[in-house]
Amino acid sequence: MPIPAVSKIWMDGEMVDWQDATIHILTPTLHYGWGVFEGVRAYETARGPAVFMHRAHMERLHRSARILQMEVPYSVDELMAATRDLIAVNELQSCYIRPLVYLGYGEMGLNPLPSKVSVSIAVWPWGTYLGDEGLLNGVRAKVSSWQRIGTNMIPTGAKAAGLYINSSLAKVEALKAGYDEAVLLNEHGRVAEGSGENIFVVKDGVLITPPLSEGVLQGITRDAVVTFARDQDIPFVESPLLRQDLYLADEAFYTGTAAEVVPIRSADDREIGAPGPITKQLQDLFFNVVKGKEAKYDWMLDHVSQ
Ligand SMILES: Cc1ncc(COP(=O)(O)O)c(C=O)c1O
Repeated sequence: MPIPAVSKIWMDGEMVDWQDATIHILTPTLHYGWGVFEGVRAYETARGPAVFMHRAHMERLHRSARILQMEVPYSVDELMAATRDLIAVNELQSCYIRPLVYLGYGEMGLNPLPSKVSVSIAVWPWGTYLGDEGLLNGVRAKVSSWQRIGTNMIPTGAKAAGLYINSSLAKVEALKAGYDEAVLLNEHGRVAEGSGENIFVVKDGVLITPPLSEGVLQGITRDAVVTFARDQDIPFVESPLLRQDLYLADEAFYTGTAAEVVPIRSADDREIGAPGPITKQLQDLFFNVVKGKEAKYDWMLDHVSQ
């Protein structure tokens, strides 16, 4: 489905008309993938639109850029203010938000350092990523033949544009095989993450997710879910997971800004089953929090009209 057009896109400090938000064909990021981005969501609340974990996303954008030695010409606060303005200008109640730090037109070549660093932020209305049915009843996951790229190949702690070739290869393979989403194993053969999601399992009442040292992105939804679990007294550990741990899980789910909290109902055709109690508890809490229905977690929301 094409991206639904809205009125404005923010580019290097300017509100540009949607149809004029273009870049030159010789923009180096387009050729070599040297750029970093974020995926953020704003949700409709009783107080108007609010961005979930806004500061954490913009801080991760800065960290990603730092890993790639790109100096972002805007502070975290400036990017947050620009995003709030953009949502207001486009009169959106909820949306997906895509900040991008890229190398602008100028130099070309494999040394990115001399190129000018530019920033854009786009917003548009966006529904569920893995489908309403997936949110409700769970998705079918397939372990990919594509390995998660190793952190000494491309640093996995950076949400780098070029890294997503790895994710897309896995996603396409899973879809073509009739599954909803992929599970990528890392270079050691252990469970890393989905193509654009972190992964959790529940075994004997304990919530488990692989540690960051397994080469997974430090997901902001992952961090939020861990906070919820701790506050709900759900036992939680970070632990490496084998492929068979997925097969034998009592419950499993993906977390991500796009996917939100999505139950996994089977892995490689091994039935995990309908969403279990811990998955449902965390999923319900997540949706209540993002919609501003949990005063305790209002700190996770950045309200557009302040
Ligand atoms: C590879 C990968 N893992 C995990 C995630 C989940 O991260 P977050 O919850 O911050 O969206 C994403 C999405 O950003 C991702 O692309």
